[in-house]
Amino acid sequence: MKILITGASSGIGFEAAQTLANKGHEVWAVARSVDKLQELARFGVHTKAMDVTSAEQRHDVIETIGTVDVLINNAGFGFYGPMEQVPLEDAKYQFEVNVFGLAEMTKLVIPGMRAQRKGRIINVSSMGGRMTIPFGGWYHASKYAVESLSDAMRMELKPFGIDVVVIEPGGIKTNWGIITADNLEQSSANGPYQEKAARLAKTLRRSYSGKLLSKPQVVVNALVKAVELEKPRTRYTVGRGAKLFVGLKAVLPDRAFDKLVAMS
Ligand SMILES: NC(=O)c1ccc[n+]([C@@H]2O[C@H](COP(=O)([O-])OP(=O)(O)OC[C@H]3O[C@@H](n4cnc5c(N)ncnc54)[C@H](OP(=O)(O)O)[C@@H]3O)[C@@H](O)[C@H]2O)c1
Repeated sequence: MKILITGASSGIGFEAAQTLANKGHEVWAVARSVDKLQELARFGVHTKAMDVTSAEQRHDVIETIGTVDVLINNAGFGFYGPMEQVPLEDAKYQFEVNVFGLAEMTKLVIPGMRAQRKGRIINVSSMGGRMTIPFGGWYHASKYAVESLSDAMRMELKPFGIDVVVIEPGGIKTNWGIITADNLEQSSANGPYQEKAARLAKTLRRSYSGKLLSKPQVVVNALVKAVELEKPRTRYTVGRGAKLFVGLKAVLPDRAFDKLVAMS
């Protein structure tokens, strides 16, 4: 199958591109960091520079590749910070990458998929699209948006033979936690949340450089199912803490869940 994967220069996307190419698929990997993408070439992966927020680069990629069978919308990052202090410019950029970039890429591939009456759109959301922690407001809002858009698209695109699948990773050892901690520290500096935010940033740094989180391959296994199974599930909730936290959020009253988050 011809597969286009965004955010493939590191972490989940990088591993997914390798694995899917090894399984014999024609994989096109895109991201901003071309040097890191180059490493994928030796696995037979095609690469191209693309910032998901650039309309010109998005069009250029689709023009080069043509119709794809599978789009994996994986590019994303965490902008953590106190709601009160995060400048709306940063909040908008969080949405530009995690939500609007994903939506624009999807809009570009749908016509080709509809013409061949077959296709699959796989959106990498997060367990954070089903539950929220303090200082994560904008990131979680972006992933809740991905969840909701995916539900709408699943129903809208079904008549055209296009499946929509959501992947909800838990804690996965990638650069995500370090980038998120950097943003959290920077956006909470010199304010009333600084101390608490610094504690969360420290926890993020410790866990994302430690051994307890799941490996990206755990998510890749779910991605392979989402790509290859004839009838994939609508959602795959995988990796450290994902099923537990999503499950607890669904059954606990709000204040009980708040207490649990405060304790962890
Ligand atoms: N790691 C976790 O614990 C975790 C948990 C739940 C969900 N997720 C989600 O999983 C996805 C992959 O993240 P990861 O954990 O693999 O983190 P990562 O290692 O930081 O990878 C993120 C990827 O997104 C790309 N990206 C970021 N901004 C971009 C932009 N404007 N345009 C194009 N590409 C961009 C990055 O490439 P460039 O910088 O080269 O562009 C990179 O390849 C994200 O959507 C993330 O929110 C991660």
